[in-house]
Parts: sequence; structure tokens; C-alpha cells
Amino acid sequence: MRGRLRVPGDKSISHRSIMLGSLAEGTTRVSGFLEGEDSLATLEAFRAMGVDIEGPNQGRVVIHGVGMHGLKTPAGPLDLGNSGTSMRLLAGLLAGQGLELTLTGDASLSSRPMRRVTDPLALMGAKVETTEGGTAPLHILPVPSLKAIDYELPVASAQVKSCILLAGLYADGETCVTEPAPTRDHTERMLQGFGYELKKEGGRVCLKGGGRLTACDIDVPADISSAAFFLVGASIAPGSDLTLEHVGLNPTRDGVINILRLMGADIEVSNQRSVGGEPVADLRVRHAPLKGIRIPEDQVPLAIDEFPALFVAAACAEGETVLTGAEELRVKESDRIQVMADGLQALGVDARPTPDGMVIRGGALHGGEVDSHGDHRIAMSLAMAALRADGEIHIRDCANVNTSFPNFVGLAGDAGLGIEAAHD
Ligand code: S3P
Repeated sequence: MRGRLRVPGDKSISHRSIMLGSLAEGTTRVSGFLEGEDSLATLEAFRAMGVDIEGPNQGRVVIHGVGMHGLKTPAGPLDLGNSGTSMRLLAGLLAGQGLELTLTGDASLSSRPMRRVTDPLALMGAKVETTEGGTAPLHILPVPSLKAIDYELPVASAQVKSCILLAGLYADGETCVTEPAPTRDHTERMLQGFGYELKKEGGRVCLKGGGRLTACDIDVPADISSAAFFLVGASIAPGSDLTLEHVGLNPTRDGVINILRLMGADIEVSNQRSVGGEPVADLRVRHAPLKGIRIPEDQVPLAIDEFPALFVAAACAEGETVLTGAEELRVKESDRIQVMADGLQALGVDARPTPDGMVIRGGALHGGEVDSHGDHRIAMSLAMAALRADGEIHIRDCANVNTSFPNFVGLAGDAGLGIEAAHD
């Protein structure tokens, strides 16, 4: 893999730019917005609640904010597709609006756990109903007010933390959330960017309800989670020298770089700068022989979306890689432990799933047929495995690559991966 490329905009920041821009007073101008199905689902949801949003047009979006209390009841359910971030953050943001609405999603999203957000919201006095199994659709009912809570997260989840903080904007008093390990902090950074005061101390963040947001400009960096496929691809493909431009390097997201470096990867960070309160840099990655490692558990939440790609790196490394403490992977867009173990095994790799991780012994990769189970990150990770396989890899059920990485096939092909989209 060779050359220079810029992967699409950060998904987490793109979602939040629409959410906070809609609630702000004034006009928010966004550039670098991810035009993927997930962030577009958030955009359409706010349009359906009466927000005037222009674009996206080549990553540019203009949001005419309606203020904290300007959202309107949508005509029907809000369909959030495959997007867990949209559903969990919206559950909090909408719980105290005095509106009645329903949030729905596709089959994958409708099987993911939602009690992790509806339980703390109930403590705040919200009424958000799930199915009996604790899944979507979510039905939000109006309540007269929300009360602040002081909540300890049982899982290290930025989505749950963000849900509670967004509900806290509408609560009487000070809402605090304590996390068991650092998770992505884009909600906190962006709330501050929109002029909202919050207190951060160690793993605890607090904000008072009743404030207002002021519109601002947002330059969305390239998504490190999308860059991760190329970091792995260039590391495992002999002769590679690839530069990824303008990548968001938030310290709560950089686990993939730390883990790859521990495995022996050659990643050079240059041109470091701060863009709208987020650190950004260019990453040059060259092929290097990788070795198996025991992945430090403190890196798990910092690389939570990058494990499908890291498993491919482990399959190409010398020796054994052991991941523990990552049971959250079982409740992502697919069960990423089982689905990746099945995929790697189909390519001849010794990959053994465990309840909370995986043990992978690196070795030769063969061609074969694998199934991504509609999980975008699994599809893109297994595509990178072709850089080292001795035959073609056919990946099934790939349409959801469009949720986070439109034009993956084009960019990966330009960089040197032999890839084509097939249509059944
Ligand atoms: C996200 C948080 C993470 C991550 C997801 C995006 C966010 O989920 O997996 O892709 O934007 O807050 P959890 O917080 O549930 O781990």
C-alpha cells in the first residue's frame, strides 16, 4: 500500500456536530462531515424534528440551530438504521424534551442492549420504554422534568456517558458521570466548544442543567477508526509506505497506534496540530514485521472499534496475541469476537475466541469465503487480510461499509489493495 490519502470524517464527531448544532442558538458550519449512513441517520432525525440543515455537500453541512427547546415532534418514528451512537445519544438528548417519540433501527441495532441507557435515564425520572428484552424500539414519553443524578458507569462506554450528559442538559441540578476507564471524550470537548460549562476531574465529569449552547464552526478530522484498516494493511503488506492525512488523534482514541507499535509497527506521527479542540496529525506507516503480544487491558476502551483490524494484524504476526477484558466486543454491530474468529478460521488462521477476547497465533493466510454479518468494520478488516492471503477472499454482506466509510473500495484500491465490489 503506497501513497497519501485522507479517510472520511470522524463518525463520533459528525454525529455530535448535528446534535449540538441543532440545539444551539445560531448557525453551525461543519466541514469534513462523514457522509456515511450512520451520521446521515442522525442528520435526517433532526430534520424530521424540524431543524433546517443544509447539505451535506462535499462534507459541508450548515445547521440552523433551534435552541435547547426548539425541537418538534416528528411525523413518525425516527429510523436510526445501524447506528448505536444515534440511538443511545438521542435517547438521552430527547428524554427531557417533553416530546413523545419512537426510535427504531435495523435488525442489528434492534438486538443491541439499551437498558444500559434506559436504566440511568429512569433514575433521572425519564420514561423511555424498551422491548421486554431491553432492546429497541425505544418509546420516549414526555415527563414534566428530569432530575440530576450522580452515576457510576457499570461499563466503560462513551455512548452511555454521553447519553446521561445530554439528558443532564435538561435536568434540575448537577449531573455527574464517573467512568471506570477513560472512554472517548468528544461529547465533553464539543459541549465546551459550544460554550457549555462542565467540570472534569479524573474519571468524573459534571454539568448543570438549564444552560444554553452557542453555535460554532466544526472541522471534523479524519476518523482514526477508518484509518485503522490502512494502518494494519500497510503494516502487514511488504513494501508499503502510506501516509494518512489529518487523522484525529484524541488520546481517548489512540489505542490502535499504541497496540500496533507494541507489536512492532512502524508508525510515524507528524505535523501535529490542534483543530477545533481535537488533536490532529498525519500518520506515515511502513511495512514492519509484527510480533504477537498480550494486549494491555487499559488499551481496550481506547481501541474498542479497532479490534477487528487488530485481529488481522495478529493473524499476520509472529507468535501469539492474547486479548482479554474486551467482552464489549460481543455487543457491537455484530458479535465481533465470534464473527472475526469464524472469518479468520475460514482463512486458515488459528484464532480461538474466549468469553472476553481472543487468542490468535499468527501464520499463513489462505483465500476463502467469509461473512461479515453486516458489520462494516468486519468487512473492511477482512478485506485487508487479502494483502497477505495466498488466494482471493470473498466477503459476504458488505453493504454496511457505507455506514462509516463510503468509497472504501475506491480508496483502498488506489492505495494498492486489489479489491472490487461485487453485486449479488
Ligand atoms: C461511540 C462509542 C463507542 C464506539 C462507537 C461510537 C461514540 O461505543 O464503539 O462506535 O461515538 O460515543 P461504546 O461507548 O458503547 O463503547
